[in-house]
This record gives sequence, C-alpha cells and structure tokens, in this order.
Amino acid sequence: MSVSAALVRLTSPIVLRVPGNAARKLHGFARAEAGSMLDLRYAAAASPSPARRALYLRHALDEARHAGLFARAGDDLLARGGRPPVGPPRAEADGLWDRLGELGFVAFVHRGERRGCVRLQAFRDCFASDPRIVAVFDAVLEDERRHEAYTGALLLELAGSPKLARRALRRAAAWEAWRTFRRAGRALVEPLWAILSILTFLTLLPLAWVLRRPVRGSWR
Ligand SMILES: [Fe+2]
Ligand SMILES: [Fe+2]
Repeated sequence: MSVSAALVRLTSPIVLRVPGNAARKLHGFARAEAGSMLDLRYAAAASPSPARRALYLRHALDEARHAGLFARAGDDLLARGGRPPVGPPRAEADGLWDRLGELGFVAFVHRGERRGCVRLQAFRDCFASDPRIVAVFDAVLEDERRHEAYTGALLLELAGSPKLARRALRRAAAWEAWRTFRRAGRALVEPLWAILSILTFLTLLPLAWVLRRPVRGSWR
C-alpha cells in the first residue's frame, strides 16, 4: 500500500465525518477530473498521431463524465444536509502538453492514473456505508484502471524500451515534485508577507513613539 493511500485510510474516517468535508472532497475530485479532461482535450488536438488523438479524446470524455459524477455526488450529500448545491466544477488546464511534450505528458498521466486508482480505492472504502457514493467510485475506478493500463502501454510504445519508459516516469515525477514545491511556495508567500509586515510594524512602533515625543529643553 502506498503512503498516500495509507494516510487516506488512516485520516479520512475522521476527517470525512466533519460536516461538509465529504461533499468538499467529492467536489475536489470533480475539479481534478475536469482539469484532466482539459489537458486531454488539448492532447487530442495536438498529437500528430490520429490513433493517439482518438485515445486521448476518449480519455477526455471519461474524465468529463467522472467530473459530473463526483459533482452530482457532492451535491447529493449537500442536499441531504439541507445545503445548496455547488454545481459543475470549474477547472483550469495545467498546460502539461506544452511543458512536457507527448512522452512526458503520457508519463505524467500514467503516474496520475496509477496513483489515482490507489487513492480512489481507499476513499471508496471510507464511503462504504453509503451505497450511492460507492457506486460512483466503482464506476470511476473501472475507467481509471483502463486508463492506467492504456497509458502504461502507450508510454512503452512512445519511449521505445522499458528503460526509457522508466526514465520518462522519473522525469515526470521530478517535474511534478518541482511544480508542487513552486505551488506551495506561492501559497506561502502571502501569509509570510502578512506576518513579516506585522512583525516589522510591531518592531518599529516603539521607535515611532520615541521619535514623536517632544524633547525636553527643545527650542520649539
Ligand atoms: Fe477520472
Ligand atoms: Fe483517468
């Protein structure tokens, strides 16, 4: 079992019990699926191979369906709690094709599908008491396993050998780690700036008070 799946199994039974968290998680999945759909649609338009364009397009249609399934499941949970729906997800493409090229793109997607299968299975088991949600996960997982298999075969075909396919996977992993680091850095910049501004203000406040005090014996 991967570390990520183990963490999901350990923490999710508690985290998902917090009101609203289960629906938030399902809508998060919907956004991720919609983002994948956009990148795959781009790939379907950009690939030089008609056969691969067809594969990417079919994959994009699957991800669009998954986005809808997760969004409706999230809204279903919200409705059961008497809360308003969130509706269809809004997502942005990651520009993976332009950044990684076709081999890197397929390696990245294959890694994502492999990890997604493990994580979705773990979440599916956390929702085991809710047959409607479990049915959604089962339908999605069936497609994700197919995606994992075809992207694995395609990666090998594009790389030309198992050794080069493994190298492409390592490069995709390194690029993803760098992207995660950059995103975390961007997310931290604002709170760090706020904390530094407050600290600077508190440090300079006594100095400002001293400077504004009238000096005894001053000629003014
Ligand atoms: Fe999916
Ligand atoms: Fe997928």
